[in-house]
Amino acid sequence: MVDLREIPALRAWRAAERAAGRRVAFVPTMGALHAGHLALVDLAARLAPTVLMSVFVNPLQFGPGEDFARYPRDLDRDRALAAGRGVAALFVPAVEAMYPPGAETRVVPGPMAERWEGAQRPGHFAGVLTVVAKLLNLVQPDLAVFGQKDIQQVCLVQRMVRDLDLPVEIHVGRTVRETNGLALSSRNAYLSSADRTAALSLSRALRAADLAWRGGEAEALRLHSLMMEQFHMSIGVTVDYIAIIDPDTLRPVERADGGTIVAVAARVGRTRLLDNHILGTEFC
Ligand code: PAF
Repeated sequence: MVDLREIPALRAWRAAERAAGRRVAFVPTMGALHAGHLALVDLAARLAPTVLMSVFVNPLQFGPGEDFARYPRDLDRDRALAAGRGVAALFVPAVEAMYPPGAETRVVPGPMAERWEGAQRPGHFAGVLTVVAKLLNLVQPDLAVFGQKDIQQVCLVQRMVRDLDLPVEIHVGRTVRETNGLALSSRNAYLSSADRTAALSLSRALRAADLAWRGGEAEALRLHSLMMEQFHMSIGVTVDYIAIIDPDTLRPVERADGGTIVAVAARVGRTRLLDNHILGTEFC
């Protein structure tokens, strides 16, 4: 695996891949890799012969008081995992390379970013879209793979790619779960063992909605209350939102169809967790 730290090295590597006629698939990450990221690499490798991964903890997408400083970082471990999974090149830029002094331009998302995560984390999605746009411009991949777990991020990246005519295909990798249902996340590292038990209420709530919908219940209010019931039994969990929403607008729906997104965010101890399910897809 090639280690790329500097932007000129990345550009030279990319030019060589282009000259060799190889399609490049890109997996952007903030590191602290887990099996969910590696599944994105597997998907990328099925779609293109060369996979490039980036590891960059993007300061722009963390608000004041959020976990930027304590976000888990272990580059040696990430490097070993990426290389073991067949990643051809790992791009690990410094903050100063991505945001040199004087950098001030931002990608400002539309109203889709004001709901749900955007309402809880003002400025978060401008930070995400700015770094994703920069990474796409730097890497110039044929395709990029994002995880379904951050579903609003996926929808906003897809929207940005359409709105700004960015020449890249966006692919979405399914959420990977532990056998007990907990969605894999780098932030699971913050959970105590009691938190991990409490955190199961998120996937239980999604599963309850999925089962009810498959059983014929399409009323969003009813699905919402079935989901809330799962949290009444959990101690130490505070629900931030349950969203039953249209995938194109992220607005709440009254009746859920195939393709409707059911998303949940909750605080478990000091950790905010997200999970979601797209109705009509298999609950993994
Ligand atoms: O999903 C993530 O890990 C990040 O938001 C991303 C897409 C790498 C941008 O920093």
